[in-house]
Amino acid sequence: MLVTLKELLTDAKKNQYAVGAFNVPNLEAVRAVVEAAEELNSPVILQHAEVHEGLVSIEEIGPIMLDFARKAKVPVAVHLDHGASYEMCVKAIRMGFTSVMYDASSKEYEVNRDETKEIVKIAHAVGVSVEAELGHIFTSAVGGGEGRGSDSSEDYEDLDDVYTDPDLAKSFVDATGVDCLAIGFGTVHGVYLKEPKLDLDRITLIKEKIDVPFVMHGGSGVSEENYKIAIKNGICKINYYTYMNKAAGKAVKEYLAEQADQDSIFFDEISLAATAAMKENAKAAMAIFMNP
Ligand code: 13P
Repeated sequence: MLVTLKELLTDAKKNQYAVGAFNVPNLEAVRAVVEAAEELNSPVILQHAEVHEGLVSIEEIGPIMLDFARKAKVPVAVHLDHGASYEMCVKAIRMGFTSVMYDASSKEYEVNRDETKEIVKIAHAVGVSVEAELGHIFTSAVGGGEGRGSDSSEDYEDLDDVYTDPDLAKSFVDATGVDCLAIGFGTVHGVYLKEPKLDLDRITLIKEKIDVPFVMHGGSGVSEENYKIAIKNGICKINYYTYMNKAAGKAVKEYLAEQADQDSIFFDEISLAATAAMKENAKAAMAIFMNP
């Protein structure tokens, strides 16, 4: 059943759990995530990141995501992840996506605020939810495609300058009317090259100021303990991709190594091995997010 992000996150916030938001740049990932959610009877978010346009375009994957969402036995939101332009957000809205993220977090605060406000006006007019980002989320040098550049907490002298400021977050949410906010507190898009040091108390400090659900980006590769604290502190949506993608890669590698006849490798078997591994990985994550 296709639903809006707002509906999903309102329930998650009220009942203190998080909904997994999985990037699905191929049919295998769409199927793996929806089957995992159905088997656990969990709501889920399918998302297409603008940065994955090189792998698959929204015109190609969007209708597939929407079709799986409509036919699913569980509530599914179809979301644009890290929309970088007005045009991309409008395209997703016109296609029937039920939420869009407009990410102008690398721009000046006022520009981010004003541009986000404009997207909110358009999206809300047609019942589409909006996520925005304030503060900075790091990007790993390995597999961090959704972010920009590559950096970590060690590249900054004062993390207060890069993590989301609670007062500014309040002004931003009040001014824009966004439905949920992606916040920076130390997570990293892509592979964690070191054990992350998350500023989990910051989530609580932001929650004391504003009453919208928060989004964790760079959500795969985080420990079970940190997921649980983050959810208790106010995270309601967890963006998850890299470690599911990596699980598929590992399964394919193992499948290939096991084949006695290396001259007769069939792609459909590779596709099935990857789907099964992504499903198992997504299921393990969802099980934690549902019952923190
Ligand atoms: P990961 O790279 O940790 O899977 O995060 C994905 C993400 O945040 C997409 O926006």
